[in-house]
Amino acid sequence: MADRYGVPAFNIVNDLTIKAVLAAAVEERSPVILQTSVKTVKMYGRAQLFEIFAALSREVDVPVTLHVDHCPDRGVISDCLAGGWNSVLFDAHELDVAENLRQTTEVVDEARRYGAHVEGEIEGIQGVEDGVGSDDASVQQSLEVAVDFIKRTGIDCFAPAIGNAHGQYKATPALDHQRVTDLVDATGIPMALHGGTGLSAEQFQDLISRGCAKVNISTALKESYMKASLEFLKGAETRDSWDPPSFFRHQADAVKATAAEHMRIFGSTGRAS
Ligand code: 13P
Repeated sequence: MADRYGVPAFNIVNDLTIKAVLAAAVEERSPVILQTSVKTVKMYGRAQLFEIFAALSREVDVPVTLHVDHCPDRGVISDCLAGGWNSVLFDAHELDVAENLRQTTEVVDEARRYGAHVEGEIEGIQGVEDGVGSDDASVQQSLEVAVDFIKRTGIDCFAPAIGNAHGQYKATPALDHQRVTDLVDATGIPMALHGGTGLSAEQFQDLISRGCAKVNISTALKESYMKASLEFLKGAETRDSWDPPSFFRHQADAVKATAAEHMRIFGSTGRAS
């Protein structure tokens, strides 16, 4: 459908990346989802990470969601929901589907008490994301099993395995876009597109038009952050000039540009009036 767009969900890793992504969202007038891996939550501690997010998003006048990415740990899910996150991905794909369904239903009940949203997953997405996941090809469940899971759990968003993978693709992925259409037609809920880094604008736009309304980007943001850092430090060494604020500005500009570029591709630019 022509009017659909994807809300970008960026994995942020610290204050600088939060600030840069929010600056891109404000400039592009785009809604945005900031995702935290379990590793990032544990690195800061839930309370400190939330305080940083809250301080940096207070003046932001576009819709911002704080989401926990791929979390198999019910304790971390509960802690984040109680601590201010308004969306969680309960990733129980390693459990059998019946047990995953039972626990995801409980997570949905818990999230509703906070007015929060739940993304569900029954198939591992290939590739390791901040220590979670596996490089083995993911196993797809049947359409019937996936639809039954979505309807019975009452989740708000579903993360299907469609040949997508976390990290850079080693070859152009063959994506099962029909599965997205079938799932959206059968359930009416949006899909989350994982493994966004390395997909082409055409692939993004096709999947978004089929109902991938949440589009995840992690590796691309981390790479632009780290590569901009390396580039700046090489220059600093050559010039023998060591000014941290210029370094931070250079890093933030790179992260912001990467975020803004994805907003434009996903059609989210201009959607937050
Ligand atoms: P990429 O690292 O491939 O962008 O994937 C991000 C993602 O899906 C986070 O869950």
